[in-house]
Amino acid sequence: METLEDIIREEISSAGAITFARFMELALYHPTLGYYSGGGVGREPLGWSGDYFTSGDVHPLWGWCVARQLHQMWQLLGQPPRFDVVEPGAGRGLLARDVWRYAVEQAPEWGAALRYTLVDRAPPDSPLRQARQQRLFAELNALAVHDGAVWVVNDLADSDLPERFTGCVVSNELVDALPVHLLQKQDGALAEVYVTLDATSGRLAETLAAPSSPELAGYLDHYSVPWRDYPDGWRCEVCLEAGAWLRDVTNRLGQGYTLLIDYGDTATGLYTRDRRHGTLAVYTRHQMSERLLAQPGQQDITAHVNFTALIEAGEDIGLNLIGLTTQAEFLRKLGIREEAEALANRLYPYANSERHTDRGQADYLRQRTLLSAVATLLNPAGLGGFRVLAQQRAVSEAGQQLLGFQ
Ligand SMILES: C[S@@+](CC[C@H](N)C(=O)[O-])C[C@H]1O[C@@H](n2cnc3c(N)ncnc32)[C@H](O)[C@@H]1O
Repeated sequence: METLEDIIREEISSAGAITFARFMELALYHPTLGYYSGGGVGREPLGWSGDYFTSGDVHPLWGWCVARQLHQMWQLLGQPPRFDVVEPGAGRGLLARDVWRYAVEQAPEWGAALRYTLVDRAPPDSPLRQARQQRLFAELNALAVHDGAVWVVNDLADSDLPERFTGCVVSNELVDALPVHLLQKQDGALAEVYVTLDATSGRLAETLAAPSSPELAGYLDHYSVPWRDYPDGWRCEVCLEAGAWLRDVTNRLGQGYTLLIDYGDTATGLYTRDRRHGTLAVYTRHQMSERLLAQPGQQDITAHVNFTALIEAGEDIGLNLIGLTTQAEFLRKLGIREEAEALANRLYPYANSERHTDRGQADYLRQRTLLSAVATLLNPAGLGGFRVLAQQRAVSEAGQQLLGFQ
């Protein structure tokens, strides 16, 4: 059976070396064998039984906080009769599930206005997508989410979204999965890393040549990165797709917000001398490695996000910055600690009142588990260090006072 590596080898044999961005595009998104198409690994890649977990796996309180922010956005916009949430890169739909739970249980008026479109590149006919959809709709049915309020598409162009919608585009850990070019300083100049075939072994191997586009060559200068002062061998990633992606996912947003959550930094924080190997990493079974070309389609490939690029790309298309904060700050301001405490008191009442009994001990352990999940979400060296970017289009000054950014 032909593997994805065979397909990549054939492309290189016939057309020559490919950019790392092209390699990443094939490894993650080849329609049948790509990692995110589910073909490469033949199983769900995300979650505890997959290769890595995301914030939604840690605890539903993460989704509760995002939902609270979305709910407040609806209030700030004057409670419009319809409020669309569009979630590109929705994956398994964990956030959609937790947002709906919040809406149904705590904000039913908002729930009546809420429409939710999940967008993911996983092909519609893939077993991965079908299994995810089945699970999500079973969960939404259990919450009695009203008919016609949720759509799952793999391209926004195929959605029923109005030509001009009011609401929010929210995404978690999508931008880090967009293909990136890989640059390296070599002999005082900037070169690009390409993927080729090793002349002796025939295996996938790296090679350096001139950058594949002038945009790429000028990218670091645009952000005033002093790369000329850095040593030879210094590497970094450049995502040329991020701006076009932001334009595409927000082009029907008439009035409202974006909320983009991911790991990364501003350009100044990202392209430092110390980060000499760049930020590209691959994940399998919760193990991180730097073997970027190994087993294409079988492992996640990811790079940190340049948030300055997203801010600038937004400004070019009438999306203005509200704020850039850390996930820990965002969650704290949305009341994750208070909500965790309230939840613990509600669910585990004997943890404090009857610690000496069996049921008190059981509740105590459950309470500790809940609090340790919250600590994981707030950990500044982990998920808490993620960035949250909020932008707005056509929103009044007063409408920009977001809870998570105040
Ligand atoms: C790292 S996963 C995150 C999934 C989910 N947001 C979560 O937090 O668990 C990235 C997801 O983005 C999807 N994706 C990547 N590029 C996309 C694009 N341009 N449009 C829609 N989905 C995309 C991938 O298929 C994958 O499911």
